[in-house]
Amino acid sequence: MKYNSYLSSKNEYSLSKYHNLANQLKADGHHVINLTIGDPVERTYAEAYKSLDKSLENRKISQYPSFKGKVPLRKSISDWAYRNHKIELDPDTQICSTNGSKEAVFHLALLFDWSEGQEIWAPSLSYPVYASSAGLFNIPFRELPVSRESNFLPDLDAIPVDEWDKCQIFWINSPHNPTSAIASKEYLEKLLSLAEKHDFLVCSDECYNDIFYGELPSSILDFPQSQNWLCIRSLSKRSHMTGFRSGALLSSNTELMKKILLMRPALGVGTPDFIQDAAIAAWDDDQHPKDFSEEYKVKQKIIREALEKKGFNIFGGEASFYLWFSHPQFTTSDQLMQLFIEQHLVLTPGTAFGQDGEGFIRMVYCSTLDQCEEIAQRISALNI
Ligand SMILES: Cc1ncc(COP(=O)(O)O)c(C=O)c1O
Repeated sequence: MKYNSYLSSKNEYSLSKYHNLANQLKADGHHVINLTIGDPVERTYAEAYKSLDKSLENRKISQYPSFKGKVPLRKSISDWAYRNHKIELDPDTQICSTNGSKEAVFHLALLFDWSEGQEIWAPSLSYPVYASSAGLFNIPFRELPVSRESNFLPDLDAIPVDEWDKCQIFWINSPHNPTSAIASKEYLEKLLSLAEKHDFLVCSDECYNDIFYGELPSSILDFPQSQNWLCIRSLSKRSHMTGFRSGALLSSNTELMKKILLMRPALGVGTPDFIQDAAIAAWDDDQHPKDFSEEYKVKQKIIREALEKKGFNIFGGEASFYLWFSHPQFTTSDQLMQLFIEQHLVLTPGTAFGQDGEGFIRMVYCSTLDQCEEIAQRISALNI
């Protein structure tokens, strides 16, 4: 047998490595706090569980779910988009349910023809699935450099004009994992005008958009007139529903959505009906992500103050539940990892997201309030 060569080049999913390290240290008897994964430990949106229970109670026969999502779910997502982004999307032709956003991100490349050397582009610091999807489907993948100076967003002006025609999918993730950087409305506008000119799709991964501490971050949904975007949303973070696996694809481009609806029945990723019922409850309520955001704001403050006292340079922090920081005394992410591990705090090195993350480290603060206080105490005890 000849295996996919991408699999031979990899040992482990880059983000699992540090989660596994935390588990190993725990198994060795250390009192470890695992700050590697954006998987909220606080209460899931309660109405979702109520809807789930009711749905299960009423369902005595289990049948295949609708792969694109039942009508009331797509209607709920459409109503949510209108309430929050003033965009009118037809539930029947412009919205599709997904099993969380990860599988949707992964499968997206299947929509296109890559035979003429077209490429997938993504920031050099990114959620690893953009690259692993390209790798597994054997599609050329281009990393666009990002840095603190570029606000951790690709510098669109730095890309030579004649290169743009190679791009077929441009991944943008705002608020950004791992840095929490936010793309402004002007940035998205410019990107969309390039997409229109050079005929590529802006794939906007917005799973953190509803966890924010100031103004609602700009969304690609704010551009209803453009046909060159696909918005990927998820209930995982906004509703603390990571275990439910529910998300959505939205676009004003009905031709694109037609292709998506043609592709997805083959994937076997229809969301179970009872999960769809829980998802309806979550999309129908705009208040709970605001409540969760208020709680994260308090948690961030506790941790941020402790980090600042130790001289860390923290970037961003206006949305999502990630802090991204460096320290003038340390040049590598591995040194920073070691420093925290001495206090039994396991974080994720910046390099797990790409080489441009060298010298940075990411901390997740979707822990309990008590844990955040404990984390702050351990930060105060760091050996610097
Ligand atoms: C940027 C980004 N996109 C997508 C996902 C996938 O989330 P889910 O599949 O739970 O919606 C994550 C998860 O951490 C993420 O950080």
